[in-house]
Amino acid sequence: MLIGKITRRLYAYFLASKKTLYNFLLKLLSNIYQLLNKKKYSSLFFENLLSNRATLDSVENFIEKKSYESSNDLYGLPRNRIKYINKKINQYPTYTDLLTFFPKALKLKNINYVEIGVSVLKNFYQISNSVEMSTLYAFDINDINPSIAKNFKLTNENQNIKSYNYKSNKIHYYKGDVFNHDDLKSFSKLVDKANIIFSDANHSPEGVLSEFDFLIKNILDDNFLIYYDDLNKNIENAFNYIVKDLGSKYPKIKAGSFLINGWLGQNEKMHRNGFITNTGYIEILERNNVKLLDMRIVK
Ligand SMILES: C[S@@+](CC[C@H](N)C(=O)[O-])C[C@H]1O[C@@H](n2cnc3c(N)ncnc32)[C@H](O)[C@@H]1O
Repeated sequence: MLIGKITRRLYAYFLASKKTLYNFLLKLLSNIYQLLNKKKYSSLFFENLLSNRATLDSVENFIEKKSYESSNDLYGLPRNRIKYINKKINQYPTYTDLLTFFPKALKLKNINYVEIGVSVLKNFYQISNSVEMSTLYAFDINDINPSIAKNFKLTNENQNIKSYNYKSNKIHYYKGDVFNHDDLKSFSKLVDKANIIFSDANHSPEGVLSEFDFLIKNILDDNFLIYYDDLNKNIENAFNYIVKDLGSKYPKIKAGSFLINGWLGQNEKMHRNGFITNTGYIEILERNNVKLLDMRIVK
């Protein structure tokens, strides 16, 4: 019995070390690629990127220890990575740079932005500082992170919805669960129409399909970008199903996936991200000299 226990422990340790080593190597490769990448982005894209870095620099601490420990899932930020949340990010694009560039590139005004899984509001706060006269909707299983919410002016509080003004934007924070269909349905009534939807909550096929069926497909505006973080192998089939489903209603949509930095920038390995859009955004990015690494077109 003791030998069995020791063997199981050693095996678990071996698996954990293998994963750590694998992630370390991928992070190293990502950093080498970023150092060698001498691409000169268009000034429009680069100014947008610098403005996002300035927003990050304006925040001293994204999350207080007390709020972090009070979250059942630690705001989706594992203990071994919290040390990176306030670390400076280099000038290689992150998903936030792509999301904030979308309305600028397409000259969209008064946008409706939806983020499913906002965590400590790191990406959401950069969006809030990037757009004007827009309405931004956040959905998360956690309470809003007070370290960032203190910058917003609370205008209304009703059950699980908190509303704020921030600069010229309106913000609605909905506390809900992507596995609860009633939450998603009442959130979709609140949103009505969205131009940008960022899916970054529960990265399982069930989670992604639930939010698609009960929220995303009912709120698409005339020009839309649906953006997925962590489009790993386990949700590839769900992503393909979503592309097929939308393709029957919007025959001209384009969809694919690529590698890019996430919320911790160069401090972790690149993420595989996915997009679905009925606009020419990918061609616009190419014209702005933004190369998306290992692009795999699905449609
Ligand atoms: C990776 S974090 C989001 C990071 C954020 N989008 C950013 O870029 O700054 C994922 C968030 O989704 C939340 N989440 C996980 N499962 C969820 C669920 N079933 N319903 C709603 N939110 C969930 C986590 O608590 C966490 O706050």
